[in-house]
Amino acid sequence: MCGIVGYIGKQKASAIILEGLKRLEYRGYDSTGIAVQQDRRFEVAKKIGRVDGLIKATSAQKIPGFSGIGHTRWATHGGVTDANAHPHVSSDGKIALIHNGVIENYASIKKFLLTKGYTFQSETDTEVLCNLIAYHYQKEPVPAEGSRFLESVRKTLRHVQGTYGIAVMCGDCAAEIVAARKGSPLILGVGDGEYMLASDVSAIISRTQNVVYLKDGELVHITAQGFGITTLEAEDVSPVVDKITWNIADAELGGYAHFMEKEIFEQPTALENTMRGRFSEDGSTAQFGGLNISAVDLRQVDRVHLLACGSAWHACLVTEHLIERFARLPVEVDYASEFRYRNMPLGSNTLFFTISQSGETIDTLAGMREAKRKGYKVLAVSNVVGSTIAREADGGVYQHVGPEIGVASTKAFTSQILIGAMLSLYLGRMRDMSFSEGVEVVNALKGTPDLVRKVLEQAPRIREIAKRFAHYHDFLFLGRLSLFPVALEGALKLKEISYIHAEGYPAAEMKHGPIALISENCPSVFFVPSGEMFNKVVSSMQEIKARKGKIIAIATANCDLPAGLADEVITIPECHESVLPVVATVPVQLLSYYIAVELNRDVDKPRNLAKSVTVE
Ligand code: F6R
Repeated sequence: MCGIVGYIGKQKASAIILEGLKRLEYRGYDSTGIAVQQDRRFEVAKKIGRVDGLIKATSAQKIPGFSGIGHTRWATHGGVTDANAHPHVSSDGKIALIHNGVIENYASIKKFLLTKGYTFQSETDTEVLCNLIAYHYQKEPVPAEGSRFLESVRKTLRHVQGTYGIAVMCGDCAAEIVAARKGSPLILGVGDGEYMLASDVSAIISRTQNVVYLKDGELVHITAQGFGITTLEAEDVSPVVDKITWNIADAELGGYAHFMEKEIFEQPTALENTMRGRFSEDGSTAQFGGLNISAVDLRQVDRVHLLACGSAWHACLVTEHLIERFARLPVEVDYASEFRYRNMPLGSNTLFFTISQSGETIDTLAGMREAKRKGYKVLAVSNVVGSTIAREADGGVYQHVGPEIGVASTKAFTSQILIGAMLSLYLGRMRDMSFSEGVEVVNALKGTPDLVRKVLEQAPRIREIAKRFAHYHDFLFLGRLSLFPVALEGALKLKEISYIHAEGYPAAEMKHGPIALISENCPSVFFVPSGEMFNKVVSSMQEIKARKGKIIAIATANCDLPAGLADEVITIPECHESVLPVVATVPVQLLSYYIAVELNRDVDKPRNLAKSVTVE
């Protein structure tokens, strides 16, 4: 949600910043802008729309200078206009700034600054920050040592309520950037004679793999010669330089039309990476290096509480089924955004888990902090190493699926439910699950990548089906038990990238209301596994068919579906219950993707959305 880039070095800053912004565009794409410093002036170009639009419509690419900042915006305060685009420059022209987050007390700060003669060009909360820094800079005595610029940013941030990742330049200080974070991600890239700032590593990976993950309440002061990190209280921080394990190919399309397509097809490898090294030597259970909780303590847990948002919340619902099934533990699943404001009675031996691909989703983070405040241990499943949620959790599991750049989650979602299955197995084997059942589940999990490969082979046929169904305006997705959350995920995928209205329901719930939608104009996607639920699901399908509803069935290979019941059948391999939700997800990812392509939608950057929701 908003992308930030900064550069100081020996190269032309504008080219590097614009390249970084292109890679961060998925974080927000309402408007984009860049400011490069030349002597005591800022050269600013900003515009609504995408980075390519900015380059075409302005001379952004041609701006000379070796230090600068850039921003892609997902609008919060103030509409999508050129004036509201970042960077913002203070009314005295001294300070240029980009911001990701929300300044909650901006109205009172603005009132104060207006009395001091500062003026405002935009409706954003951000503009108060650069004017307040300018105000403090003006008042700050010139220090014998240290930086007046840094101190004025520090003073400003002490008055600010809300969240921010900011990068600031000062007209008086050539080739200097001060950046800070609280609640919004910010990374410093340490290159060869150059430094970069970014909201995430994809913007800097082409220049360096050495990064410092800034923490909340830290400021970094970068000059051409080096950098120093301090806290809001002006204490020095010793930086820890980490090595990113991703490489530039992970952040590029590599011949695919969209990142979403690439990420769907990467799933077999992504799932292999998620599982690597995570099964016990005797092959009967899972093992995790970073849970930071002893087997004895885990054995005491009598309830599991799962928190997440969006697709990750669907992954929690799948995990709920599997934990109940394998570990016989009661599980509660909450939207993190609701949990943080509820005051529900919680047991004393409850273990919390949060699931978050980005590790930065503000509601999930707040839910996690609330659980910790209440004295609970919170473990996290996340894909982004060093993310806030990963750092603040008591322990957890990294997904290791590489960067997910398409806004609609695909490989991260299937990896999350695979981890859910592995955790369920692990908790189950500590309780009543036998050695032989454990071995059966481990073997099933190990086979998941090949099963997914088999489903992916059907992509051309699913594309044909998508073409036939792309013109409908409403869809239902219906599944039972662990495939109900997959139905929710299918509906979410379709609506977010194709803008077609879709709803997910437990198949039997359909007749308690949603069936009123059914007509020849509202198709249903049914998940039809063989086994105990087969006949029940078939009955629901009959009820739809009797009302002239079209049906796409995603059925396991052994299902003996009555002839003519489904208009289209996508067959998935027979598989163990622990991996069925992963395998069943892939056809709906492909179906949604191809429908969106058919409708010419902007698949990787759907309207109104942004990857990583860092505002409430
Ligand atoms: C949907 C999607 C979102 C995210 C949600 C949580 O395709 O990607 O619903 O799942 O915003 O994001 P993370 O997992 O980063 O916390």
